[in-house]
Amino acid sequence: MDYQGILDQIQDKIDCKKLPGNVATYIPELAKVSPNKFGMHLCSVIGDDFSFGDSTERFSIQSISKVLSLSLALLYEDENLWKRVDVEPSGDPFNSLVQLEYENGIPRNPLINSGALVVCDTLISNLKDPKKEYIEFVRKVAGNQTINYNKKVAESEKEQGFNNAAMVNLMKSYGNIRNDVNEVLDLYFYSCSVSMSCQELANTFMVYANHGCLQETGEQILSVKRTKRINALMQTCGFYDEAGEFSFRVGLPGKSGVGGGIVAIYPNMYSVAVWSPKLNEKGNSTAGMSALELLTDMTGSSIF
Ligand code: DON
Repeated sequence: MDYQGILDQIQDKIDCKKLPGNVATYIPELAKVSPNKFGMHLCSVIGDDFSFGDSTERFSIQSISKVLSLSLALLYEDENLWKRVDVEPSGDPFNSLVQLEYENGIPRNPLINSGALVVCDTLISNLKDPKKEYIEFVRKVAGNQTINYNKKVAESEKEQGFNNAAMVNLMKSYGNIRNDVNEVLDLYFYSCSVSMSCQELANTFMVYANHGCLQETGEQILSVKRTKRINALMQTCGFYDEAGEFSFRVGLPGKSGVGGGIVAIYPNMYSVAVWSPKLNEKGNSTAGMSALELLTDMTGSSIF
């Protein structure tokens, strides 16, 4: 497959400047990013790399981090997590409070904000130094010791994080948060603030294309069964109330973030990340969705 030729065509076909959408502004630090950044990186399971544009520039991975925090939490909680978080698509925005009240403080899934907050609560319960151990886990999966939090982004979100504070307090009132709410919010904001480039993200998510094995060392860091489940959650819940649209247009398990990144995997074949900060009304990158749709159309590589 001529992946580089296909990526070059995608870059030619998509003109970010002309596409609709807006950079996220509710986290003030994110509003400073240029709307016209556009990059893409694909890693194949046999170790080849293909890319274009701003593929080596770091951006805020935001909700993409929810897959990594879930992966770490499952190492400690295993089946117990599913007593506190469901595995159903929400069909609601990522920050919706409504469903949480109807469903007695049990989040629909771990890839919406409420679910990720419960995941962070379990990390605080299980780890001695959650922030340090979380970033060490991410570095290990990424095979890259330079990955880090972006303090400015985390603190910027903390200052404006009223909606997440409402959620965590509501869940605390239902007994589904066991630690101090401010500690949970702090870990959540820091985990969302991690910066990576498309190249680094695609490398990190190779583990999900590779049945839980780290490509570099061959270590089985997640079991095959757990990896299957995480991929299923990305497929059904990775794009909130646009999960159906992403499945329909792209047809791969994936995850988006309001920093404008999207990562997707094709099991046994490749991991791919794309970044363009202009978001549609559902909070997903406009150009990113189109780029991945073109990729799976042109390569015929959807899982469906
Ligand atoms: O909690 C928030 O609102 C952000 N830290 C993350 C939201 C996000 O990335 C949703 N993704 N599309």
